[in-house]
Amino acid sequence: MSSVSITVVGVGAVGGLIAAHLCQVPENVTSLAVRTAFERLILERDDTLLEAQPRVMTDPDQAQPADWILLSTKAYDSKAASEWFERCSHEGTRLAVIQNGVDHVERLSRWFPRERILPVMVDCPVERVSPGHVRQRGPVVLKFPATAPGRSFGSLFAGTEVNCEAVDDFVSVIWWKLCLNSAGVVNALTLKPSGIAHDPHAARLMRKIVEETAAVGRAEGAQLDSGIADEVIGIYRNHPADSVNSLHADRLAGRPMEIDLRNGIIVKLGLRHGIPTPYNEMAVELLRIA
Ligand SMILES: NC(=O)c1ccc[n+]([C@@H]2O[C@H](COP(=O)([O-])OP(=O)(O)OC[C@H]3O[C@@H](n4cnc5c(N)ncnc54)[C@H](OP(=O)(O)O)[C@@H]3O)[C@@H](O)[C@H]2O)c1
Repeated sequence: MSSVSITVVGVGAVGGLIAAHLCQVPENVTSLAVRTAFERLILERDDTLLEAQPRVMTDPDQAQPADWILLSTKAYDSKAASEWFERCSHEGTRLAVIQNGVDHVERLSRWFPRERILPVMVDCPVERVSPGHVRQRGPVVLKFPATAPGRSFGSLFAGTEVNCEAVDDFVSVIWWKLCLNSAGVVNALTLKPSGIAHDPHAARLMRKIVEETAAVGRAEGAQLDSGIADEVIGIYRNHPADSVNSLHADRLAGRPMEIDLRNGIIVKLGLRHGIPTPYNEMAVELLRIA
């Protein structure tokens, strides 16, 4: 098999996880474009370590054109990260956007040709221990559209434990994930971890938020079950009571938050479809004020 060059831009929790698995495939020539430098990439999971020493770059001037750019910064860092794209690209380079949200292509097409952008949904509990060192706490699933570029992206992970699923109905996949993530704003607002979903008042708010999200998602073409709010609340109740979602973690750490990508987009698309989203709107405004 011929080699494939890959540059991972943004090597935090998700980027570190993805890069560590990519480095296990001999055909992949993987480079890392980072903001904070490190020497080794370490992935910790189930008491085992995956270690790799790919090329680490801190300046776009060090970059070479690659077949794939994998973007795994937080969405609010996409603009700064886009400074890597020109030096990492040749005319056929594809950009896989491995971020939460439902508007990957729309967001990134400001800085990269939209016909070569592949949206990717990532599902894996993973956290950064220190620069270049991440801890994977469960199986990793990547879902992306079942197109030729999608299948080619999936083949980058051949033989690894990353579960890649090329799906026909990607719209439903990302809206299901947004239903799950949208409820997490209750944690970020109350500064209380997952266990708050056992509180009937918190559960009621989560339900309203998810119902609005699902209504907008259906208007966007997603197939979402009528029981999705119960499903989401059940998932939060089944998480370890002290687990903290990334919106909540960003607020605690005083970082920017992916609020536009999570609840803001529901308000924006709700307006477009004439669907009221008062619970999401209030949540967005309260977080902005906070
Ligand atoms: N963590 C999870 O369990 C999880 C699960 C599902 C989905 N997601 C989604 O995945 C995406 C990534 O999240 P994450 O948790 O991996 O975030 P993260 O741990 O904060 O990592 C983001 C990384 O991007 C780097 N970065 C920022 N600006 C950069 C730039 N201009 N050039 C190069 N690197 C830059 C940061 O550098 P520094 O090292 O300097 O901070 C950091 O290492 C988000 O959309 C998130 O919602 C996360």
